[in-house]
Amino acid sequence: MGTLTNKRILLGITGGIAAYKSADTVRRLRDAGAEVRAIMTAAATEFITPLTLQAVSGHPVHRQLLDAEPGQRPTDAGAQDGMDHIELARWADALLVAPASANFLARLAQGRADDLLSAVCLATQAPVAVAPAMNRQMWSNAATQANLATLGKNGIRIFGPAEGSQACGETGPGRMLEPAELVTQISQLFVTGELDGLSVMVTAGPTWEAIDPVRGLTNRSSGKMGYAVAQAAAEAGARVILVSGPTALADPERVQTVRVSSAQEMYDAVHAHVGTANIFIGVAAVADYRPSQIADNKIKKDAQNITLELTRNPDILASIAALKPAPFTVGFAAETEDVEQRARRKRESKNLDLIAANRVGTNLGFGSEENSLLLIGQDGVTPLPIQPKTQLARALIRHIAVKYHATRTAGVRQIRR
Ligand code: C5P
Repeated sequence: MGTLTNKRILLGITGGIAAYKSADTVRRLRDAGAEVRAIMTAAATEFITPLTLQAVSGHPVHRQLLDAEPGQRPTDAGAQDGMDHIELARWADALLVAPASANFLARLAQGRADDLLSAVCLATQAPVAVAPAMNRQMWSNAATQANLATLGKNGIRIFGPAEGSQACGETGPGRMLEPAELVTQISQLFVTGELDGLSVMVTAGPTWEAIDPVRGLTNRSSGKMGYAVAQAAAEAGARVILVSGPTALADPERVQTVRVSSAQEMYDAVHAHVGTANIFIGVAAVADYRPSQIADNKIKKDAQNITLELTRNPDILASIAALKPAPFTVGFAAETEDVEQRARRKRESKNLDLIAANRVGTNLGFGSEENSLLLIGQDGVTPLPIQPKTQLARALIRHIAVKYHATRTAGVRQIRR
């Protein structure tokens, strides 16, 4: 898997000869695992056609500030191009403007919002990077340099430019970085270092409790949230072990993935690998009960009624929280009612450092691309608003990193136990 797996990259293309390289940039971003949408300024379309970008990105190109149908979500089935500037801004995990013309840098430095690309740059919370491309004199001009200083101060990342021969026949600084280098630099934006040197274990997905060789009890967990959490922990610098029930998802990059089926297998795998884990995050939707007996052969439909006797499964999360010493232990609570109250009680009864509660049963939660969470710890409640699960996972990991470092510094957990 690539270094940008599951990342959503918005590629902004402005008017410059280097725009002809944009198709290659999109292709390389996708090869690295990213989903890519392109925004073109009017000038960019003089250099490369929107059709080319649509073909290589697999999505219609966004061009106008005011032509979107409001209200359509990027994750709605069939929604392709009905995203306004706010939805595009929220959709992106990172925004890369390549090539970024001198004119665009000036407009970005001013905080203009009079076309789609500049408006999205203003509206997004995701990191924004620009890859300048222009004639060397334009690059060296004091006005351009002042704009770059402003952009740097505003947290915009500047990728390049490189030095070399230019389309105008001159040689010097101002060449856009090559697409391969842009992909490398954008990948590095996702490495935060918040969990450097730490070891994290995550459980994810449903479990499968066999009834006979072909049938079983399971639930609707897709594994998306747990996988996103594992990946966010890896991006934060942790060594990550993911113990996963059956899912249709590919192993996350830079994560050691252990596949299991039943709750008992998950329990065994967790205890076999937990070792010196500093943080344990139980995201799996573990079956509470399993059939007391697994039939050796497929059960025949002879009888009118049959009874299935169920036996309680071990609580994996609680068993980890009970270890001495225990890792910083985080649980999830999917509730249909009284979300906060029930989650609070669950945190206390399982002796968790933190619980992430969410409401299920509406169209959020299981299987969906988006979710929101209520993080309940010893010292308060932090809501994480609705957002794509990949972004939610990063926000959760940031919160866990802060709490982990705070408790370990203060020795709070040792006192609490
Ligand atoms: O008690 P409840 O199932 O609602 O608790 C949910 C939390 O406990 C989740 O973090 C889930 O991963 C974990 N859990 C577990 N083992 C079980 C049941 C739940 O680790 N047998």
